[in-house]
Amino acid sequence: MALRRSFASIVQTSIRQASTFKAAVLKEVGQPLKIESVKAAKLNKDQVRVKVSKCGVNSADLLVCQGEYHVKPKLPFVPGFEVAGEVLEVGSEVKTLQKGDRVIGLNKDLFSGFAQQCILNQNDVWNLPGEISFKEGAALPDSYATALLGLARRAQLQEGDSVLVTAAAGGLGLAAVDLAANVYRAKVIGVCGTEDKASLVREKGAWAALTYKPEHLRAKVKEITEGKGVRVIFDAVGGHVFEESLKCVAHEGMVVVAGFASKQIPQVETSSLLPKAFSLVGVSLSNYRISDPEVYRQSVEDVVDMCEQGLISPHVSAEFDLEKVNEAFEFLRERRSTGKVILDCDD
Ligand SMILES: NC(=O)c1ccc[n+]([C@@H]2O[C@H](COP(=O)([O-])OP(=O)(O)OC[C@H]3O[C@@H](n4cnc5c(N)ncnc54)[C@H](OP(=O)(O)O)[C@@H]3O)[C@@H](O)[C@H]2O)c1
Repeated sequence: MALRRSFASIVQTSIRQASTFKAAVLKEVGQPLKIESVKAAKLNKDQVRVKVSKCGVNSADLLVCQGEYHVKPKLPFVPGFEVAGEVLEVGSEVKTLQKGDRVIGLNKDLFSGFAQQCILNQNDVWNLPGEISFKEGAALPDSYATALLGLARRAQLQEGDSVLVTAAAGGLGLAAVDLAANVYRAKVIGVCGTEDKASLVREKGAWAALTYKPEHLRAKVKEITEGKGVRVIFDAVGGHVFEESLKCVAHEGMVVVAGFASKQIPQVETSSLLPKAFSLVGVSLSNYRISDPEVYRQSVEDVVDMCEQGLISPHVSAEFDLEKVNEAFEFLRERRSTGKVILDCDD
């Protein structure tokens, strides 16, 4: 995925636009973000300008700013791609949204959400029902739509299935637990780093939650699945957590690879798939956006519907003012967060 327009070019084309707004700007990779006043850019005909109320702080933002993501931003760069707020202006070809609409957006193309305003392509914006707050809205689309694609579309999760979720208290993991337990009525086993996190995972509806101790994990899976192993594994950690989890998969089970929080990408020998005849599948929302835009849009619509109906509820462990963005990054980096971390970008 390439950034189609750098923040630098947005600033350049903004000369004719009079208004300015506050944004958290990366000037140098690996350095803290700086709060600056920037000029608003001109809108393209298929774009939407949003007054950002809340923006999700994601590990991808952290990685981009550290120069460790596959997207290498042109500097200066404003991170942030998961926004909730109100439409300020629409381009001439935008027919489905209008000024004043409450919306959420996934700006994995342009980023720039750590700001009081940002510009998104219309296909990355969805209406947000009044029942869902901006805070919930900014915590919803990325992790829940990814988890939904992984569990429902790829793994075909059914009621009563057993599911093992790693990093179960993280943004993506807790979304997977919520969907699997509360929408699909699956038996969820969550694994995570601490007892406190495990309590939260149980509160979210998991059948069981435990810390990473391989012997406990295998014993618990054996007990819950009567020795069969879990039908679905949803992993966003990689490394040795992934390798240990694989030992818990059932005959003809499915392993969904969604991310690599450990930054270690495991190597799987294809011969290891044979004894249990299990399947290994991947899921990436960014790539669905490019390869299957309808499924991408539908997945976010579905999680918005589920949230509106009260079936799922995103968990936000901390909210930081825009000015405290570097503290938000630190909180995430130190693995102190559970569920999502949100930036408050309101004036
Ligand atoms: N496929 C997609 O479309 C998609 C969408 C969203 C995210 N992702 C990816 O999925 C992964 C998780 O995202 P997230 O939003 O859940 O992140 P997150 O909220 O930061 O949670 C990640 C969790 O992973 C656990 N973890 C285990 N080993 C770790 C390590 N060595 N370093 C850091 N954390 C470690 C930590 O929980 P414990 O302390 O409990 O171990 C941490 O809280 C990331 O790689 C992200 O890029 C992929």
